[in-house]
Amino acid sequence: MAALPIPTSLQAEHSHVLAALIRQKIDQSGGWIPFAEFMHMALYTLRLGYYSGGAQKFGLAGDFVTAPEISPLFAQTLARQYAQLEAAWILAPRADILELGAGTGKMAVDLLQELQVLGALPERYFVLEVSDHLRHIQRETCEKNLPAELFAKLIWLETLPEKFNGLILGNEVLDAIPTHVLHKTARGWCERGVSFEDGFVWQDAPLSLPGLAENLPENLPEGYITEVCPAASGLVRSLAESLQTGAILLIDYGFSAQEYYHPQRNQGTLMCHFQHYAHDNPLIYVGLQDITAHVDFTQITLAGEAHGISLAGYVTQAQFLMNCGILDILAQHSPDSPQFMQLAAAAQKYLSPAEMGQLFKVIAFTKNMNEPLIGFAQGDKSHTL
Ligand SMILES: C[S@@+](CC[C@H](N)C(=O)[O-])C[C@H]1O[C@@H](n2cnc3c(N)ncnc32)[C@H](O)[C@@H]1O
Repeated sequence: MAALPIPTSLQAEHSHVLAALIRQKIDQSGGWIPFAEFMHMALYTLRLGYYSGGAQKFGLAGDFVTAPEISPLFAQTLARQYAQLEAAWILAPRADILELGAGTGKMAVDLLQELQVLGALPERYFVLEVSDHLRHIQRETCEKNLPAELFAKLIWLETLPEKFNGLILGNEVLDAIPTHVLHKTARGWCERGVSFEDGFVWQDAPLSLPGLAENLPENLPEGYITEVCPAASGLVRSLAESLQTGAILLIDYGFSAQEYYHPQRNQGTLMCHFQHYAHDNPLIYVGLQDITAHVDFTQITLAGEAHGISLAGYVTQAQFLMNCGILDILAQHSPDSPQFMQLAAAAQKYLSPAEMGQLFKVIAFTKNMNEPLIGFAQGDKSHTL
């Protein structure tokens, strides 16, 4: 197995500056901060955090690859789901798309281009992105790749609209939301946070928020480590309150609570990516590496249903893309055409259970809409919430 790459001196310098800020925060907080706060600073500190700094993150020259970055086939397939909704909204005054955490902007480009072909363009395409740096990249990507009439549909928002009609979409956003880490000890649940000795170290303390452990199963063994992400529920609650008529579609890797909090998954799900090397130590390379946690889709469902949106489907990514017709889209290309091999390789990555097909799930909620969504027409019953 390849070794963890070593940062350049410039990268190390950048990381030291951010580490000093985090250390200062730890000192000001009495020597300990919750992991969620550490993760928030590591990813989103202005100009220094992983997502807020200037380094390339996505693609071969970055640290990891997401589905929209692999191929336009992903957005082209999602476009079928939007087109179905758009047809159902024929009487609505206007239907918009709102993309959360739009990465490089590639999905916005591919989706708008495909929706133009399908004759199902939204009135407006909003983007809500927490990173100033990525907002800048998104604008550049969209301006460069879209004709003026499509680019004109894009609006970058600072906050969620108070009232939104249409489709809210987020690919790999929930996994990037800062999470708390809990540790079961002989005294019950503690919170694993971060202190500083020679470097950042894990340290247990009493729970920083009341109720953090209240939904965890009682039978988990001593020594068990896991994550709980109230901020993800908070985001879903805000989306639910903003949505008036329409749907929310969230795509990410994760499980139902039953699988997530399985006694054997006893070391949690934190993962870091640095130059395509995946490992599980978020306390190093601060600001240089991505930090993620798998999503507890049961928690997401409970948060949504408690705030007025209804679960409309939960299936594997493979099932969702098949239901939306990914193979039909592929079949529109001649097997002899230069694109076919690339698209077929991408489809294999999206659908294969050994790659993204099984671990990634798609969850949808609707409000004031009864139309069954095509992406969930056939369910995979082994993936229930
Ligand atoms: C792993 S990247 C995925 C990017 C893109 N969706 C893709 O699939 O390539 C996570 C993205 O979510 C953004 N993000 C994280 N928390 C967010 C939030 N609360 N609201 C909006 N965007 C958020 C990050 O800045 C980043 O753009």
